[in-house]
Amino acid sequence: MTFRDPTSYVDLTQGRIHHIDFHIRVDFESCTLAIEATYQMQEPIHGSLYLDSFKIEMEEAHVNGRKLEWEFDKSGEVLGERLHLKALDGDMSFTLKFHTSPKARALQWMNASQTAGGEHPFLFSQCQASNARSIFPCQDTPSVRFTYSAEVEAPKELTAVMAAEQAKGPEGSGLFIFNMPQPIPAYLFAIAVADLAFRELGPRTGIYAEPKVIDAAAWEFAETEQTMVEAEKLLGPYLWGRYDMLVLPPSFPFGGMENPRLTFLTPTSIIGTRGQANLVTHELAHAWTGNLVTNATWQDFWLNEGWTTYAETRITEILEGKDSADLNAAYDEKRVDEAIQRLGMDSPETCLKVPTDGTDADSLTSQLAYTKGCFFLKECEYAVGRPRFDDFIQKYMKTFQFQSLTTEGFLDFLKANLPEVFEKVDVQTWIYKPGMPETWHKPQSPLYEEVESVLSDYKQGKLPTREQLKDWRRHQILSFLQDMPKAIPVEDCKQLEDILELHKRNDDYFYTYFYAICIASGYQEIMPRIENFVERIGRMLYILPVMRAMAETDWSRDRARPLFEGVREKHHPVTIGAMDSVLKKAGV
Ligand code: BES
Ligand code: ZN
Repeated sequence: MTFRDPTSYVDLTQGRIHHIDFHIRVDFESCTLAIEATYQMQEPIHGSLYLDSFKIEMEEAHVNGRKLEWEFDKSGEVLGERLHLKALDGDMSFTLKFHTSPKARALQWMNASQTAGGEHPFLFSQCQASNARSIFPCQDTPSVRFTYSAEVEAPKELTAVMAAEQAKGPEGSGLFIFNMPQPIPAYLFAIAVADLAFRELGPRTGIYAEPKVIDAAAWEFAETEQTMVEAEKLLGPYLWGRYDMLVLPPSFPFGGMENPRLTFLTPTSIIGTRGQANLVTHELAHAWTGNLVTNATWQDFWLNEGWTTYAETRITEILEGKDSADLNAAYDEKRVDEAIQRLGMDSPETCLKVPTDGTDADSLTSQLAYTKGCFFLKECEYAVGRPRFDDFIQKYMKTFQFQSLTTEGFLDFLKANLPEVFEKVDVQTWIYKPGMPETWHKPQSPLYEEVESVLSDYKQGKLPTREQLKDWRRHQILSFLQDMPKAIPVEDCKQLEDILELHKRNDDYFYTYFYAICIASGYQEIMPRIENFVERIGRMLYILPVMRAMAETDWSRDRARPLFEGVREKHHPVTIGAMDSVLKKAGV
């Protein structure tokens, strides 16, 4: 099937990349990767081939010993530059030599002082949604898949890892050899180079982290093999070989990134309670929903994230119990409401299939894809019952494994296999209309009702006691903070931090909500702590709401941009871009 991906320059009628052999030299001094890459195509190419690139410094291109003409002939701020390879003559393969820019938007080059150990630099990549093109020219659309091999030359004292199978390089040589035998879309290419320790967690799982962090990380995620067993029961066999994880420095923009075989994780998930195990459940589930069956364009992003969130809730139900899963769903329902209100009831951004031909992939990857997508799939499950839906899930994974799929392709498959869904669920409204449908099975949760009762007491002037909240689960505290009045008396801010024992819980996400309340409430003395938070943490989910609250509140508005400018050096290019756009949207 061919369709246009507005976030890429590629023309799929010219042909598709099949395999790439990389040689990558990592240079921490110039903050660049020097790369030689040999591309094999699926079929012979005649004439032109367009590739996506972003600030790539091209050196040469050749094919079969002859020089290949090339030119950057189009450019856009988000799309980057179109690399036009010219006059290919039925060639199946060509080689490009180039290096990345220090401003490559997929790469963060951190100096030693920005790491946990403080002695060695740290490099990591983040290619989703459309940043792979800043590492190598490619067909940077999730509808193209290729296999690859890579030799990575890194400083001898450091370890290179990739989201690929690792072959042993000569010990201590600084040469690392990788192979990715399963075809992946470009956004799942990933590399990191740092001072890393490794711990085995189970027969096919392990974790990498800086030596200072490895013990805590290994403890936090010790139960990963069990999660894999449950995931396989739901989704079918795990087809990627090993499942390892890598803990990044705090500036990593996401909670996790499902790079195949090697999930990248934020260190904010290491809290000493195993309370964020659902993050690994989520990233692991992507090994099927996303990595095996991939959204064909970013407008179909809900196919990745809605399905993954659905799988996450199913696995959580087994591992943590139905009461926890129901509580999380109730919390998510409120998040949906909040997001829809923020974006506007009729905003096309709240549709599951996002109707746009905009070029910025990141603007298509909204929170609604996760939660609304998950609620839609639950409706499908209710319509036919769990056993039939479970059979459908397995068949879906098997039928489309290692393929990319559009929303329409998915709906055709759903109709062919579970036609009753279309009688009981208003599929068209769920997928193509903004907001939430009027009727659906809203989550019911006694644990959430407890939160509502404490909140209603608070709204009548009665603060809860520490005793009352001490056994609350993570999502009860989050729900409580989420549903608080936007602004409260400053005195209450001070007391609540203590009553909720936020310090003791060691979970920065609570502070996201708490600081937003403090800002709206005019609790000005807390500002130095907020500044520290925004400097220290790069996880966008945690810091963007705080920046947004600052930009939207009178007393703090003028401080938002100077704060951003002061911390931008510490952050990943992706985070910098997102912070800037939050401030611009708020007129700051
Ligand atoms: N694939 C996403 C991260 C992502 C999304 C990167 C869009 C770039 C563009 C990842 O799987 C994810 O959803 N992470 C969440 C985890 C959470 C839902 C448990 C995160 O980072 O918070
Ligand atoms: Zn995800």
